[in-house]
Amino acid sequence: MLDVAKYSEFERLRDGRPVEIRALRGSDRDDLLAAVGRTSTKSLYRRFFGAKRYFSEKEIAFFLNIDFAKHVALVAVVDEGGRQTIVGGGRYVVARAGTAEVAFAVVDQYQGQGIGAALMRHLTMIARDAGLKELIAEVLPDNIAMLKVFEKSGLHLNTKREARVVHVALRLL
Ligand SMILES: CC(C)(COP(=O)(O)OP(=O)(O)OC[C@H]1O[C@@H](n2cnc3c(N)ncnc32)[C@H](O)[C@@H]1OP(=O)(O)O)[C@@H](O)C(=O)NCCC(=O)NCCS
Repeated sequence: MLDVAKYSEFERLRDGRPVEIRALRGSDRDDLLAAVGRTSTKSLYRRFFGAKRYFSEKEIAFFLNIDFAKHVALVAVVDEGGRQTIVGGGRYVVARAGTAEVAFAVVDQYQGQGIGAALMRHLTMIARDAGLKELIAEVLPDNIAMLKVFEKSGLHLNTKREARVVHVALRLL
């Protein structure tokens, strides 16, 4: 079984720059909050389904205290002027036996570079290794980029459209 807490793989952005997809660390707090700080209100709305920019200590603790079993979080890290910088993240939380809910956010400046798809690929690998059977997500109906990442994941996809949300289920088996 993978040691997910130590997970680290390198990929390339569409423009050729390297990006590390690695496990979130407890020490990432400031970098994670900095990434949220440079993400647009619209993107944060799509991630949190509401106007959300500031988080309580309890919420921050939830995002950072990862057990890498029931809650797995990966970040995408690029070199920005010699500094390793978090520019995206994806996580899953086990909702019930065999099923985990996934969610992603990529800093606007880095969207459309393949980071969402890469995070999805690595989370899928980890979820399969952990024996999960299904990933689920709730997506706003106009969130074409997220729906596209799911459609292009290669996993069997089931969607249920409601007025305000699309329920997505992806089969891992
Ligand atoms: C959704 C999100 C995570 C995707 O990450 P990303 O790094 O931009 O994704 P990728 O670059 O891997 O791929 C996005 C795909 O959507 C496409 N896309 C982006 N915006 C689009 C739009 N408005 N219309 C059509 N396609 C669009 C891209 O061209 C790309 O498709 P391609 O692979 O065929 O070129 C990112 O856009 C994001 O953070 N959005 C805000 C937060 C959010 O929506 N979270 C989801 C909550 S579950």
